[in-house]
Amino acid sequence: MAGPAISSPEWYLKVKDASSDIDRLTIYHFGFKQAANGTLIFAPLDFSTAPRAVLDIGTADGLWMRDVQSSLPSPPHGTHTFIGTDINESFFPASSPSTIRYIKQDIREPLPPSWQASFDLVNLRMILIAAGSGSAQRTVVNEHIKLVKPGGWIQIGDCDRICPTPVEENPRYHDMFACIRAVCHSSGADPLEAPNMKKWLEEAGLLDVQERTAMRAVGKRNLDEDLGSKGIEADLIIARGFADAAKGLGPSVKPLPEETLDTLVVDLEKELSEIGAYFPMRFIWGRKPS
Ligand SMILES: C[S@@+](CC[C@H](N)C(=O)[O-])C[C@H]1O[C@@H](n2cnc3c(N)ncnc32)[C@H](O)[C@@H]1O
Repeated sequence: MAGPAISSPEWYLKVKDASSDIDRLTIYHFGFKQAANGTLIFAPLDFSTAPRAVLDIGTADGLWMRDVQSSLPSPPHGTHTFIGTDINESFFPASSPSTIRYIKQDIREPLPPSWQASFDLVNLRMILIAAGSGSAQRTVVNEHIKLVKPGGWIQIGDCDRICPTPVEENPRYHDMFACIRAVCHSSGADPLEAPNMKKWLEEAGLLDVQERTAMRAVGKRNLDEDLGSKGIEADLIIARGFADAAKGLGPSVKPLPEETLDTLVVDLEKELSEIGAYFPMRFIWGRKPS
């Protein structure tokens, strides 16, 4: 019987060794940041003129918030404030400055009424798949748009879950994504919604909606050798989790032959070390009318 799919809410609730999962998420954070040339906030929100309220959904240990906070200009009066939410409280740092609060919240549950129209920026990075189906993911986006102040911004980061390079170049990276898609589908989650998200924001009435793709370079493809090799370790955790889960799928939905699944992690490690690969991210942002 397959365990919960890595990245599902059930997986994150079962994580016992929070530090090793945080290590993986930390490597991803710096990989996404590098791929976006250092940009963490794509929305053109001015932090220098007024204190801003930021909400980060599925924050884990709040690294995105902490990295953002350390890079922002101070407003002339007051301070920028951050709230990070996550289903797994064990990820939250033991202590944090008074400007950053952590709150346990499941994205599938109703949001606190006092949060309506109260944030200048709502960030949802690598979290929407946890909602499940495409329509559930879209509902989560719409519910979080309600939390944005008039004139404020929502920003989404999600991945395509399709290897962007030809199969001849990255056969095993294609296999890893095939496992991810099959396991997501079998657990009722739609893994291919990222290309639809720009339209979701436009159809929700947001303005200035924009999208940018950013390829996280893994292994040999990364000019930063250290980040490249750490990226291999992070992706192998994903590959191992999804290949194991794929083995438990029924024959009609199993994405790859058993023997390919058996050697996927070893074969992928070789491919990433010798060739490298790109993990395709999309960032989408839009402004709520004033
Ligand atoms: C892939 S990590 C992304 C972490 C962070 N947003 C980032 O981009 O680095 C997904 C996070 O969402 C959390 N999560 C999973 N299911 C959730 C749910 N239903 N509600 C809230 N958080 C959830 C996990 O505990 C984990 O911290």
